[in-house]
Amino acid sequence: MDPQGSGHEPEVAPPRSARPRVLAVAVQKGGTGKTTLAASLAVAAAEAGERVTALDLDPQGSLAGWAATRETDTVAIDRLQPWEIGQLPEILDILAQQGTTLVVLDTAGSSAGLAPTLKEADFVLMPVRPSRLDIVAARPTLQALIGLGLRGRFALVLNQCPPLPSPRTSAYAAQLRALGVLAEPGINHRVDHQDALAVGLGVTEYAPASPAAEEIRALWAWIDAKMPVTTG
Ligand SMILES: Nc1ncnc2c1ncn2[C@@H]1O[C@H](COP(=O)(O)OP(=O)(O)O)[C@@H](O)[C@H]1O
Ligand SMILES: [Mg+2]
Repeated sequence: MDPQGSGHEPEVAPPRSARPRVLAVAVQKGGTGKTTLAASLAVAAAEAGERVTALDLDPQGSLAGWAATRETDTVAIDRLQPWEIGQLPEILDILAQQGTTLVVLDTAGSSAGLAPTLKEADFVLMPVRPSRLDIVAARPTLQALIGLGLRGRFALVLNQCPPLPSPRTSAYAAQLRALGVLAEPGINHRVDHQDALAVGLGVTEYAPASPAAEEIRALWAWIDAKMPVTTG
């Protein structure tokens, strides 16, 4: 990460800006859709007026790879190396000074570096597929969040859902909703998500009028309402 960019150091430090809001997309399991949702939510948030920086914290670098194929700079994207994760608070300060209002963190599907990442998050979105294995695999992340005192600041989103009616999906949704930990709407399995990411776009850029785009915009609106209002 080169948060200073190539500009010259100002002689007088600029006034400290409000800290950006931080959305972490995290769950200790691969393949649930963290990168897919992080990318499209970052784009949808930018379209809704946020100045977004997305940070790829996953050594696999999928989000950074997506960024490399993007031809627009509507979302700033950077990669953090594992040893930089401890510097997140300072990095957030720098991003604030640069005018970022929302930081989206895409994380690895493991516990490595997760606690310091979650600690900085205003909200943690945990994508899971509507399957018992995924929901069980989310438990350690849930326990870590509760241990960090982040109750009320996280939710699971059902991703890659089969077309409705799907009794299994509805049953999981009802259980999670009853526990107050369901982000809505759920996101259906749609090839638009795969095709958008393949060409460096968010799904709202790739197919703006599609159901996939509608779901992502609605999910961003849901998350936006759960996060603190930016102050200062
Ligand atoms: N809603 C969706 N519809 C269709 N395919 C999806 C959806 N979400 C994720 N995928 C696909 O699932 C796979 C894993 O997604 P990815 O975002 O890489 O997961 P993670 O970052 O959690 O490992 C990818 O092939 C991706 O294209
Ligand atoms: Mg990923």
